[in-house]
Amino acid sequence: PEKIKVALLGAGNVGSQVARILLEDSDLIRQRIGVPAELIGIAVRDTEAPRQVPLAAALLTDDAEVLIDQADVVIELTGGIEPARTRILRALHAGKPVVSGNKALLAKHGQELQAAANQNGVQLSFEAAVAGAIPILRPLRDSLAGDKITRVLGIMNGTTNFILDQMDTTGAQFNDVLKEAQRLGYAEADPTADIEGYDAASKAAIVASLAFHSEFTIDDVHCEGITSITAHDVQAAKDDGFVIKLLAICELDGDGVNIRVNPTLVPQEHPLASVHDAYNAVFVEAENAGELMFYGPGAGGAPTASAVMGDFVSLARRMVLGGAGVPESNHAALQSTPMAAV
Ligand code: HSE
Repeated sequence: PEKIKVALLGAGNVGSQVARILLEDSDLIRQRIGVPAELIGIAVRDTEAPRQVPLAAALLTDDAEVLIDQADVVIELTGGIEPARTRILRALHAGKPVVSGNKALLAKHGQELQAAANQNGVQLSFEAAVAGAIPILRPLRDSLAGDKITRVLGIMNGTTNFILDQMDTTGAQFNDVLKEAQRLGYAEADPTADIEGYDAASKAAIVASLAFHSEFTIDDVHCEGITSITAHDVQAAKDDGFVIKLLAICELDGDGVNIRVNPTLVPQEHPLASVHDAYNAVFVEAENAGELMFYGPGAGGAPTASAVMGDFVSLARRMVLGGAGVPESNHAALQSTPMAAV
């Protein structure tokens, strides 16, 4: 191809940063891919709505379907199940690779989407769906593919880590810190998903699917949030040498995998205890590799956009090199060994 036409679905925190990078860093992206990447449009619900990041009005459209049909690659950053699912399937069935950051969708319908990608010989990439900027899905799927992962412990929600960390360091009240996390752009549109643990549970299902080369959905994840944690609990834990973290835990348990999200007492000397603010970290235990920790910004527009751009550049390169017909099978859907959640 002489250029790659990109359709962007969604102009929220992450979408608007992806638009900015595609426009501002177009020279760098052209060098990395080999041909220019052209942002042909941004599909939004309301083209007139006020925006934090200024976007050229000429790029905005409320007709996502037409935009998808005109594109070579679709980047989906709208969140939620529908219409995101239908739109991604439309793109995949038309033979167009898709980059998505939609953890809720992938944690529920990942298998269906990956099957559609495989069937059409195109790539579906979603590094941005888990832990923002941290490269974690590729290491789990590829770098550790020859090892046996036994356990993954993750701080995978920036909002709740920010809240618990502020409660720990300043003694602040839960509700005040939540407002600050929302102001900083970490929280979901409806922060219930953060504080009740559902956001981390979606990510845990995606991580467990890749780490254990099996199929898990959010329904396999036992989930408990942080709404009942008080300043008193945080102080009592501290006095005993612990810090309270909302952990996503995915571990081998007999022939199955146990996946849960719950507030956990982490000893102060454990590497996960020193993860502050809205940072995320994923601690992986594997039979031969031993212990690994992946650490970095887990939420926020620009960091998450970095992961989206990594997926985009990597698949666009393959299109330019003629490798578009070689799906990487991110979700391990079709070559997985069935495993039960316990
Ligand atoms: N609301 C999420 C968080 C955003 O706080 O981690 C990143 O997925």
